[in-house]
Amino acid sequence: MSNEKHGSDRDDELLKFPSWHNIIPPIFFLVVGPVVTLLAIGGVWYYFSPKFTDVGYMPEQPVHYSHKLHAGELKIDCRYCHTAVEKTPWAGVPPTQTCMNCHNAVKTKSPKLEMVRQSWKTGESIPWVRVHKIADYAYFDHSAHVQVGVGCESCHGRIDQMVEVWQSQPLSMGWCLECHNAPEQHLRPKDKVTVMGYTPSPGDKERIATEVNPPIHCSGCHR
Ligand code: HEC
Ligand code: HEC
Ligand code: HEC
Ligand code: HEC
Ligand code: HEC
Repeated sequence: MSNEKHGSDRDDELLKFPSWHNIIPPIFFLVVGPVVTLLAIGGVWYYFSPKFTDVGYMPEQPVHYSHKLHAGELKIDCRYCHTAVEKTPWAGVPPTQTCMNCHNAVKTKSPKLEMVRQSWKTGESIPWVRVHKIADYAYFDHSAHVQVGVGCESCHGRIDQMVEVWQSQPLSMGWCLECHNAPEQHLRPKDKVTVMGYTPSPGDKERIATEVNPPIHCSGCHR
């Protein structure tokens, strides 16, 4: 009797073993494989995502316009060209007319300004290449920052020393939150927002810090 039972148990096991074996490949390819693949892609995506690679990004521009010369040596205020920065979410890039205010009289024969003159004649904008860009699902507003005394320098670095603009900060969520959690480190009087190399004075910082309240909650930046 007991022998018979053992026998049938063993039969069951013999039957089960191969069938269990047979479902391993489908499980691997349908479940484990894709999960492993997604983790690998996720890892690669994360490490090569903006936080890690965009710092230092410096695309080639169609005209060799230099901030070091114009904003640094000539000391033209940022807002002369980035006119919307205090009033709108966008800083914007100036139209060719802004360049021609000077270059219809300065360096009028320079080959380096050929494309600028062409653009002015044809009315076609200069195809400047975008440097700073955050993901579309995040909301950013220049005026909200500039109006309370966050300097351009805090987010864009020493633009007055850059011949060509490059990205000096990660612009990642962690980076935004680092400042939102301790904004007093980065505040200055409102009339100094475009000054480069500004050293904040402690009295100013404390006064302004009580006036600001940067959002930490998700919907503050994901609207
Ligand atoms: C005479 C005009 C002019 C002045 C003054 C000027 N800019 Fe610009 N700015 C430009 C132009 C044109 C571009 C687009 C080409 C480029 O990226 O170099 C630009 C691009 C930039 C960019 C990169 C935009 C992007 O695509 O992400 C930043 C940041 C910037 N400017 C900040 C500043 C700051 C800060 C100052 C003041 C210290 C300043 N600019 C002064 C004309 C100007
Ligand atoms: C407020 C006046 C002013 C404005 C506005 C201005 N520039 Fe200039 N720019 C100058 C001066 C001055 C020089 C050259 C100084 C020198 O080398 O003698 C210069 C030089 C240049 C040069 C180098 C030319 C060469 O042959 O070396 C380029 C390129 C240039 N500017 C592009 C631009 C562009 C593009 C804009 C608009 C986004 C612009 N500038 C706006 C004043 C201006
Ligand atoms: C708190 C951080 C912060 C400050 C302060 C700041 N910027 Fe920006 N800036 C950014 C970010 C982030 C972007 C990219 C925005 C996007 O992708 O929508 C950007 C983009 C830009 C651009 C590209 C064009 C545009 O409108 O998006 C220019 C030009 C620029 N900034 C100039 C300035 C100038 C000039 C100042 C100071 C008057 C300034 N920024 C202050 C963070 C900042
Ligand atoms: C260097 C400091 C600093 C950095 C970096 C910074 N912020 Fe802010 N942000 C502030 C301060 C200060 C305020 C508060 C403004 C107020 O209280 O009126 C603010 C306010 C805001 C607001 C609220 C604006 C409104 O209209 O109410 C948004 C949205 C925002 N930040 C998004 C961002 C995003 C997105 C980033 C990163 C790409 C960023 N900020 C990076 C300092 C910073
Ligand atoms: C101060 C602004 C700010 C706040 C507050 C904020 N985020 Fe973000 N978040 C961003 C920015 C900017 C990016 C995109 C960065 C980029 O372009 O790579 C982002 C990206 C993300 C991403 C995409 C993955 C990643 O890390 O890039 C997720 C998911 C996300 N946020 C979720 C949240 C959640 C959940 C909260 C609330 C706990 C939150 N965020 C609060 C600014 C913010």
